[in-house]
Amino acid sequence: MVLKTVKLNNAVEIPILGLGVYNTNGYKEMLNAVKWAIEAGYRSFDTAQMYKNEDILGNALAELKVNRQEIFITSKVNLGNMGYENTINSFQKSIANLKTDYLDMFLIHWPGQQKDRLIKTYKALEDLYKDGKVRVIGVCNCEIKHLEWILENCEIPPAINQVERHPLLNEKHLETWCLDKDIKLEAWAPLMRGKLDLPAILAIAEKYKKTPAQIVLRWDIQDGYIVIPKSVHKERIFENADIFSFELDKYDMEILNNMDHGYRTSFDPATFDF
Ligand SMILES: NC(=O)c1ccc[n+]([C@@H]2O[C@H](COP(=O)([O-])OP(=O)(O)OC[C@H]3O[C@@H](n4cnc5c(N)ncnc54)[C@H](OP(=O)(O)O)[C@@H]3O)[C@@H](O)[C@H]2O)c1
Repeated sequence: MVLKTVKLNNAVEIPILGLGVYNTNGYKEMLNAVKWAIEAGYRSFDTAQMYKNEDILGNALAELKVNRQEIFITSKVNLGNMGYENTINSFQKSIANLKTDYLDMFLIHWPGQQKDRLIKTYKALEDLYKDGKVRVIGVCNCEIKHLEWILENCEIPPAINQVERHPLLNEKHLETWCLDKDIKLEAWAPLMRGKLDLPAILAIAEKYKKTPAQIVLRWDIQDGYIVIPKSVHKERIFENADIFSFELDKYDMEILNNMDHGYRTSFDPATFDF
């Protein structure tokens, strides 16, 4: 089974579900997670320079003899590698680590508050895209002001904004703005890092005879988000992929959409700088 894809603003198709690998740091753990993910139908893997595991992901894909054309690999420029030259140089290290000669998607990990640095970094992504080294370029954690800086100063609009998104952080204003500009949203920490035991979610899970993780991932994809849940456990990797055979009704979608209260598991991109 190969899972559904979403067409991006440059017509490239990205799998709607990918495996996040933040905190997957041992080789055996990575190898097993990637093997089970492939068996479960995942074809997309989300890493980052910051995670320091591009090399073990690359080794696992090589050991499993995965056909490069059949998978979608995302990495991200680390904070300390921003700026034009550093971004290009760090990209070369990323693809060497991943044992590939191109990336499917390369993202800016955090925008920060320095416009000049963000634009120079984005211009490096544009040049990598123009050189055919990256099929899709985009950003993470961008607020509207960051995206305006990019759109006003760059040629190729980002295809993706990867943002923290789960029932307790659901930024509808940002979502509407991005979709209006044909920038798709990808949800990180979709499982709230495993802390989904909230009464409203448990009640919906009971109603559909699904797990809390399946309920929130289904909510994401029904709402048009691409999702990249992380797990290193076989049963959870399969469970998180089993979200295509049921549909949440509009009442339950509304309950999940109304749970937002601005809770973040990490920094606030509106103010965070480095
Ligand atoms: N762009 C960014 O700034 C950014 C930031 C953070 C993350 N990300 C990306 O987004 C991915 C996902 O985010 P995340 O890893 O922070 O959090 P997450 O996917 O929301 O949650 C992962 C946690 O949930 C547990 N889990 C997985 N499946 C489960 C299930 N079915 N039931 C209960 N618990 C489950 C995992 O444990 P086990 O592994 O033990 O199963 C892990 O502890 C990352 O891996 C990374 O690729 C991007």
